[in-house]
Amino acid sequence: MNMYEIISKKRRGFPLEEAEIRWVVEGFTRGEIPDYQMAALSMAICFQDMTAEETAVLTDAMAKSGDMVDLSLFGSDSVDKHSTGGVGDKTTLVVAPLVAALGGKVAKMSGRGLGHTGGTVDKLESIPGYRSSLTPEELLRQTMEVGVAVAGQSGNLAPADKKLYALRDVTATVDSVPLIASSIMSKKLAAGARSIVLDVKVGSGAFAKTEDFARRLAESMLSIGRSCGRNMTAVLSNMDEPLGFAVGNALEVKEAIDVLRGAEIPDLKNLSIELAASMLSMSKGWSMKEAREACAAALRDGRAIRKFREWIVAQGGDGRAAEDPDAVLPSAPCSAVLTAPLSGYITGMDTEAVGAACVHLGAGRSRMGDDIDHAAGIRFIRKTGDAVIAGEPVATLYGASDLRLEAALIELQKAIHFGCERPKALPLIIDVLRG
Ligand code: URA
Repeated sequence: MNMYEIISKKRRGFPLEEAEIRWVVEGFTRGEIPDYQMAALSMAICFQDMTAEETAVLTDAMAKSGDMVDLSLFGSDSVDKHSTGGVGDKTTLVVAPLVAALGGKVAKMSGRGLGHTGGTVDKLESIPGYRSSLTPEELLRQTMEVGVAVAGQSGNLAPADKKLYALRDVTATVDSVPLIASSIMSKKLAAGARSIVLDVKVGSGAFAKTEDFARRLAESMLSIGRSCGRNMTAVLSNMDEPLGFAVGNALEVKEAIDVLRGAEIPDLKNLSIELAASMLSMSKGWSMKEAREACAAALRDGRAIRKFREWIVAQGGDGRAAEDPDAVLPSAPCSAVLTAPLSGYITGMDTEAVGAACVHLGAGRSRMGDDIDHAAGIRFIRKTGDAVIAGEPVATLYGASDLRLEAALIELQKAIHFGCERPKALPLIIDVLRG
């Protein structure tokens, strides 16, 4: 086969054969196809798209380019979730122990944050002692004993995607439904769970800025999962403002613990229940009504926070975080307050810019491998739709130095929009697509 011919065929809008796609993925992973040809093919896919069949083959080839985790010993109980990435999205910290408390088996591999979106592994590492690097045997044993284990991605999980994603990131070829869908689903299929819930974020803080793009992405991922025999659900959820009030690693862990202890933080709690209930409904065969009620009861009666403690301790973390997070989690030495410039309402947010303000604070990274400050971040006091009085505090910023706070405050001032009219409330859960 010839890479030049394959690039040219896709550029002219013809679908690629299964053998061609597998040849490309294998050759690229082995280093036989150079980056410039793979980048050219990615660009051709961005413009010409892929059929459902091509996307399924690409996903399968990337999933099989490395280790495939075998969770068959858990039968239908093995269940995973994936968020397409947002700001303040700490649902995994609530959902994973909640599902495990109700009998699901969550052996989860999560990523680190990059750019404006956060990553679950960074959040968990703000708990002193938490070990995010587990061997496959440790991951399985802990899932068997505790019901939940969350680790960083193993080095050899979908290596073709790892290489391709790094290339797409620097060649402006991230933005394509088949490329994003195959990238995400190759990792999910390799991670082995029988049932998968996708939280597809829509809005100013998400990859998918429009509902139409998010819907096409969700449908593509559902179709890939179904064709590989997995039970699939996709929840389209709002990311036009951060989820909850906290953005930044330790601040988000604390907020998740608050919800696990029964606190009413409506958007975070409701989305976590919807995701956890979807996971349990697929893995246990419960109706959504039964599953939602079971989740609400486990949050109320302490089973969820007890499971959280058990999980954190099993992974080497300080379990006192579950009872007294302020005593255990790191806190920042400096803070600053953003105040309302006028009396009226918060009319909206540029959520990506909120995430960028957190990067200025040190809570996120602009390059893979950058160090992060687990204590840094933003805690909102008011959110979109809330009434404000001129001069009252809207958010508190936390960081290691006044210099960092100044840069972040300027970014945050631009990100929060104020006006005289209360904006129309947006639904948190836009739609749920079930496979
Ligand atoms: N997340 C991924 O894992 N891959 C993409 O292509 C986009 C988001």
